[in-house]
Amino acid sequence: MEGGLNKKDWILMVTAQSPTNIAVIKYWGKRDETLILPINDSISVTLDPNHLCTTTTVAVSPSFDSDQMWLNGKEISLSGSRYQSCLREIRSRANDVEDEEKGIFIKKEDWENLHLHIASFNNFPTAAGLASSAAGFACLVYSLAKLMNVKEEQGKLSAIARQGSGSACRSLFGGFVKWAMGNVRLISKDTNGSDSIAVQLANEMHWDDLVIIIAVVSSRQKETSSTTGMRESVETSPLLHYRSKEVVPKRILQMEEAIKTRDFTSFASLACADSNQFHAVCLDTSPPIFYMNDTSHRQVLFSCLQDGSQLLIINYMEKWNRFEAMPQVAYTFDAGPNAVLIAPNRKVATLLIQRLLFYFPPSSDTELSSFVLGDKSILKDAG
Ligand code: ADP
Ligand code: DP6
Ligand code: CO
Repeated sequence: MEGGLNKKDWILMVTAQSPTNIAVIKYWGKRDETLILPINDSISVTLDPNHLCTTTTVAVSPSFDSDQMWLNGKEISLSGSRYQSCLREIRSRANDVEDEEKGIFIKKEDWENLHLHIASFNNFPTAAGLASSAAGFACLVYSLAKLMNVKEEQGKLSAIARQGSGSACRSLFGGFVKWAMGNVRLISKDTNGSDSIAVQLANEMHWDDLVIIIAVVSSRQKETSSTTGMRESVETSPLLHYRSKEVVPKRILQMEEAIKTRDFTSFASLACADSNQFHAVCLDTSPPIFYMNDTSHRQVLFSCLQDGSQLLIINYMEKWNRFEAMPQVAYTFDAGPNAVLIAPNRKVATLLIQRLLFYFPPSSDTELSSFVLGDKSILKDAG
């Protein structure tokens, strides 16, 4: 077959979708900034890709003369080390690609000289604390791997996505996922962080009663990115060091057990406690970081609560759990003001949504959406 590289008029593309994930035991702090190696393990739930997801199309053509990327319709620079690491790692694993229909044959070694155009869209707020970097980099790595016929297993791909954004490694799997921090005693340059990968703890069918509700209270971009925030916490927060050594290792084991046995009471109390400790670390950082302060200052939103106080969703959920004689509900907040609520089943979720809509009525800058964790799978190849 004639080598596709001789003709200039062809284009080959792949489109993939990738879900976001929400940590129930948080990653916060790196021990290696370049390789993105964390200071503790973390556990997350991957959300239904039909609701919150990134869609990325990667295209290759001999007529492209540089690598270029557009995010939500705007061109962004690929010169940053995170994008470069992902591109380099995937390119180095590329294989021969043949498209008989189009008469295209790309030899393994041709990939070094071919350029890419990448277009990515998030169907949810970017950089607002709903893990756009997780869905975004997982999708980038997955779609590039498809395009270049990379044959690595998901775990290996997760270690590449991790180099784009730490939380991205967990979005390579559906269901309940652990990011194992990897062995700290091995010198990172020797292992290249290859043992810091995501593993699936249980697939999406394991606990499909759970319902995840995302309360988007602000779509605004956060002031402190996760990357900057956690760097400052590592440098200044004594609580973070205590947390990563003394608290998280025990919590990881307890959370794994709660997931395995579908123990919602334990799941919920661990998730809430971990979210609260993560935000306590943010406050313990110098200067302090307030990821939830947008929510807390939205007085109009919260002043309609029956007791007249200006409550956060978090206070409301604590009241719910303590006084309402209701089944427990878990809450967790990432690095942003948006609430992620997890109900044990649809019945409780419906009741919760009713109440939330009453107490926190949607306005131009609020939105409550329900996302069901059901037959959700790993990244779907939409190409
Ligand atoms: P978030 O809480 O949304 O994850 P972060 O501060 O962690 O916020 O990351 C936001 C950054 O992630 C963006 O500035 C961009 O660099 C990157 N990102 C977001 N979406 C995508 C995407 N679809 N593809 C590639 N990179 C993305
Ligand atoms: C609070 O993965 O966005 O969402 O690795 O620097 O890109 P970088 O940070 P990122 O951090 C996510 C932090 C978190 C908790 C979590 O997802 O575990
Ligand atoms: Co992020």
